[in-house]
Amino acid sequence: MSEENKTMKLAVLVSGGGTNLQAIIDAIAKKQIHGAEIAVVISNNENAYALKRAEAAGLMGICLSPKKYDSRDNFNHDLKDILDSFHVDLIVLAGCLMQMPPEIVDAYPNRIINIHPALIPSFCGKGCYGLHVHEKALARGVKVSGATVHFVNSDLDAGPIILQQAVNVEEGDTPETLQKRIMEQAEWKILPKAIDLIAQGKVSVDENNIVHIAK
Ligand code: GRF
Repeated sequence: MSEENKTMKLAVLVSGGGTNLQAIIDAIAKKQIHGAEIAVVISNNENAYALKRAEAAGLMGICLSPKKYDSRDNFNHDLKDILDSFHVDLIVLAGCLMQMPPEIVDAYPNRIINIHPALIPSFCGKGCYGLHVHEKALARGVKVSGATVHFVNSDLDAGPIILQQAVNVEEGDTPETLQKRIMEQAEWKILPKAIDLIAQGKVSVDENNIVHIAK
């Protein structure tokens, strides 16, 4: 953000149902997020219900479909152009299956955050997305799982951890029931909270890539 107390402009990147986007929209409306506004919602999936949520909220929604590009580089270039054109301060990956390319990660250092549906470093990295995360957690027999909000760097799910919220695994859980509980009890709470803390300038990352949150 350029001046003191300027409203932080968000780009929210989505791929699916958009419940995390909805949590951000609702938190801004309920003033649980202070000093931030959604400038644009970008989806790589034209059928993402998240785009309908954006439309219903009167937000600018853009679909950038990789299917329409002959190369990933051209897709990444256009994605960066769109982000730059909205002069966003923070990129939020909210149920987003697009991996950010180095050209975007480098241009937005510690200005991209992601919500991961597990307690990183558990059940993260390649192949760990959506329901697969919960399948792995149940297969391992963990008694506690949860969600993590972290800064995005060039490695998958490896950036500095901002917030985490633990959620109990219950007897008889399926990947679907565990996913739902983690979304309700963790994701939809810590992602808006992290945005609010960043907007208030309370989040810093030290030389060891450890996040510190000011009181
Ligand atoms: C959520 O479990 C989220 O953690 C993961 O994608 C799932 C769907 O998110 N990244 P949403 O409903 O599209 O926000």
